[in-house]
Amino acid sequence: MISEKLQQARDYEKENTYIVPETERPKFHVTAPVGWINDPNGFSEYKGEYHLFYQYHPYSTSWGPMHWGHVKTSDFIKWESLPVAMAPDTSYDGMGCFSGSAITLPDGRHLLMYTSVEKRSDKEGSADYQQQSVAIGDGIDYVKYAGNPVITTDMIPSKNDRFDFRDPKIWEEEGRYYCVVGSRSEDGSGELLLFESDNCLDWKYKTVVDRSCNKYGRMWECPDYFFLDNKQILIVSPQEMEGDGDEFHPGNGTVLFVGRRKDNDSFEREAVQTLDFGLDFYAPQTLLTSDNRRIMVAWMQNWDTSNVGNNKRKIYGQMTFPRELTLKGKRVYQSPAREIQKYYGTKIIYDDLEISGETVLGDIKGRVMDITVTLKVGNEPVFDRFEIKLAKGERHFTSLLYDARRSVFKIDRSRSGGVNDIVNDREFEALTVNGELKIRLLLDRYSVEAFLNDGEKTASCVIYTPLEEDEISFYASGSARVDIEKNELLL
Ligand code: FRU
Repeated sequence: MISEKLQQARDYEKENTYIVPETERPKFHVTAPVGWINDPNGFSEYKGEYHLFYQYHPYSTSWGPMHWGHVKTSDFIKWESLPVAMAPDTSYDGMGCFSGSAITLPDGRHLLMYTSVEKRSDKEGSADYQQQSVAIGDGIDYVKYAGNPVITTDMIPSKNDRFDFRDPKIWEEEGRYYCVVGSRSEDGSGELLLFESDNCLDWKYKTVVDRSCNKYGRMWECPDYFFLDNKQILIVSPQEMEGDGDEFHPGNGTVLFVGRRKDNDSFEREAVQTLDFGLDFYAPQTLLTSDNRRIMVAWMQNWDTSNVGNNKRKIYGQMTFPRELTLKGKRVYQSPAREIQKYYGTKIIYDDLEISGETVLGDIKGRVMDITVTLKVGNEPVFDRFEIKLAKGERHFTSLLYDARRSVFKIDRSRSGGVNDIVNDREFEALTVNGELKIRLLLDRYSVEAFLNDGEKTASCVIYTPLEEDEISFYASGSARVDIEKNELLL
């Protein structure tokens, strides 16, 4: 039985998708059919395909009562839109179906685990309680479990907050199920709680996995917890972070810890890193493919820069391109899912090209491509600055600048056409490897994702430039030598 609210959202979506012109959408990044999206949810392989759900408010381009939108793919490039999976249509989730994850049950059904937000009123007023619930389905239709919520606020230690308790990430290990849920501890800062179950329905609280102690932000949202090679990885998206040099910027951040799981199930940190140094990246979530690759996707927006200028658009928000994670030493590297190579068209190559002053290469232009520029910096650079300007036209451009004297990389979209007084540039340290800085860029109309040195550091941002502005230029103050490989994407 489909509820009235869910049917209404499905109908609305069907009737309104056409109002978004094709040219307002990226070519291969996930967006909503219509309206607003935020976090990726339920990213999982199910019956040989990858399913991705997302926080969804179809009725406007602002955040509103949260539904779960739904797409699937077999290659991370071509996505098929599926009907809205969940609406906030019960007494325990009427304030929203917040973020969560998914898993396949032994009987072949697909289980979604999410945060159900319930308004409760008493004589002191009303408050939104966050608890965890499940819905079970076949990859299209999902039925909420009659025993929801399956993890209630009564089950958590009394010191933990009842109103900030969300975003379960579920996994299976040797026939048992576990999930981590973001919480707020007595010091007001983030804490990660672990639960276990043998059937995904009856859960019990186990322990605290890790806590922020006010160092890595306040509330920890959207946790992910998995093994990569022989290491345990913990990802969290903290709110209200303080800046720390060029590693962490103030506001909503994403932090990845590399470490190990101790016998008592708590986590011991060994290394920490920023997940993305750009402007728009939040709430990443991963899945494991059947060929054993850990793939991550994130919301390519950030709360600090979203919710501005939305009303001029018909859709708001998109996902990053899915990225493969690999561990090198104690650092996690990210590179675009390798499936993208299937779509390569014409390849343009320049070997050891000299760039001196501003250079435009006639055959390198466009707003959709996978391009790698390898900058030969050497030990003593003979240039001070190297800059790539893209989505460039009469009025606009987005700049990627490498300052060779300071070993700093800067991404700057302040001239991309945005009209809001928000953060528009960010810089961070970028060191060469064997005298070279490798800059790989994925362009998809309204976004740039930069992968430096084979994904050692990444920087992502959306841009606002009209599609006609599609030139690319290269500039060096002094003289720089580069190799360029540009791949057209046939989509
Ligand atoms: C993160 C977040 C989650 C929450 C969801 C609500 O962006 O705040 O913690 O579940 O968005 O849409």
